[in-house]
Amino acid sequence: MPNRGFNTKAIHAGKTEFHPDSMSVPIYQSVAYPYLDAQEAAAIFSGEKPGFTYGRWDNPTVQVFENRMAALENTEGAIAAASGMSAIFLLAHHLLNPGDDVVSSNRVYGGTFGLFNVGLPKMGAKVHWVTNPESIDAWAAAITPNTKFLFVESPSNPSLFIADIPALAALAKSMNLPLVVDNTITTPALQQPVLLGADVVVHSTTKYICGNATSLGGIVCGSKALVEGIRQSSLRYLGPAMAPFNAWLSLNGLETLSLRMERHCHNAMVVASYLETHPKVNHVNYPGLTSNPYHKMIAPQMKGCSSLMSFELNGTYEQATRFIDSLRVMTHATHLGTCRSIVTHPASTTHSAMGEAEMRKAGISPSMIRFSIGIEDEKDLIDDLAQAFEKIDSEPRVKEDYKTGKYPQAY
Ligand SMILES: Cc1ncc(COP(=O)(O)O)c(C=O)c1O
Repeated sequence: MPNRGFNTKAIHAGKTEFHPDSMSVPIYQSVAYPYLDAQEAAAIFSGEKPGFTYGRWDNPTVQVFENRMAALENTEGAIAAASGMSAIFLLAHHLLNPGDDVVSSNRVYGGTFGLFNVGLPKMGAKVHWVTNPESIDAWAAAITPNTKFLFVESPSNPSLFIADIPALAALAKSMNLPLVVDNTITTPALQQPVLLGADVVVHSTTKYICGNATSLGGIVCGSKALVEGIRQSSLRYLGPAMAPFNAWLSLNGLETLSLRMERHCHNAMVVASYLETHPKVNHVNYPGLTSNPYHKMIAPQMKGCSSLMSFELNGTYEQATRFIDSLRVMTHATHLGTCRSIVTHPASTTHSAMGEAEMRKAGISPSMIRFSIGIEDEKDLIDDLAQAFEKIDSEPRVKEDYKTGKYPQAY
């Protein structure tokens, strides 16, 4: 496609010819694609003729999604996977051999943390964590002769660390290593890492790209050689392919991505500003606020900082859970990046297994609350917060609630 704008590409890019054609990409809900004759089968298998062979590594609907994501992330190609975690796993499986290592920021999603810590050693590889990822020197010091790629998630989930991508890309280039950026939280509508010097972009498309919590998905966007290498040597044998229906739902999500991201950013700024001045809030962590230490990094890299934020309630664990139980517009769930606003309480859910001491070391307090702000009417969000803040003034819940196990008594 000629050099069209982002929104045009989000609706049209990657489309191949389908007969008959259709306003939405046809769903090829099929695991195999019958050949005209033996000659065609042989030609497709040998790569002489373009075509599809088996759904574990290729599918026409999935291919449109891959090509559209490549167009939006400015890469030669892309390969879709069953989830964000499987996309990162396929990439690591392809790039690492026994004895190799990856250098990664330690501010990454918990699943990525687990994959690198536990999954890589099972493949004979390992991770070197950069515990101060603001420092480019710290990255440089972690690189060894066996390092095969640098990995950074920016902004990170849930700590909202923002990396200096151009500086990291310059370091990677000087060491002849690829820089991989997890761009899940911003999406290409707000940040395009390849234009900042990165080589590879990964996503959990489950989040903002899909947009309404209907389908798991992941993608690796990079050079043709990388993508085809992953397809032939990792996806083909390991098997976590994206389902055609999920690709179709994700394509529908892409069509409205940039409009949704604008509204996510707007609503998040309204909510963060409200929280920042609220007497029952100690601290708000949202890079869009001028008080945020990463704020000055937004303009050169990003068109907006998406809608993930956390804040610390000026109160107890019990008050935090009461606040969450009182919300009526926001949904309490373990997810982010959907049209509806989502609240999570790390201390009682995602991080509860850590125990209080470990949680505090990771910067998570018992009264910390995470929001993924949706695209509802901003007034309804603020009214919902206001009534929930009022509820936390009331008497604490009776001990009976704890005895029944309805409210954990960890703090
Ligand atoms: C930044 C980031 N990367 C990757 C993942 C993993 O994605 P999935 O849940 O689709 O496997 C997540 C999930 O929350 C995430 O937040």
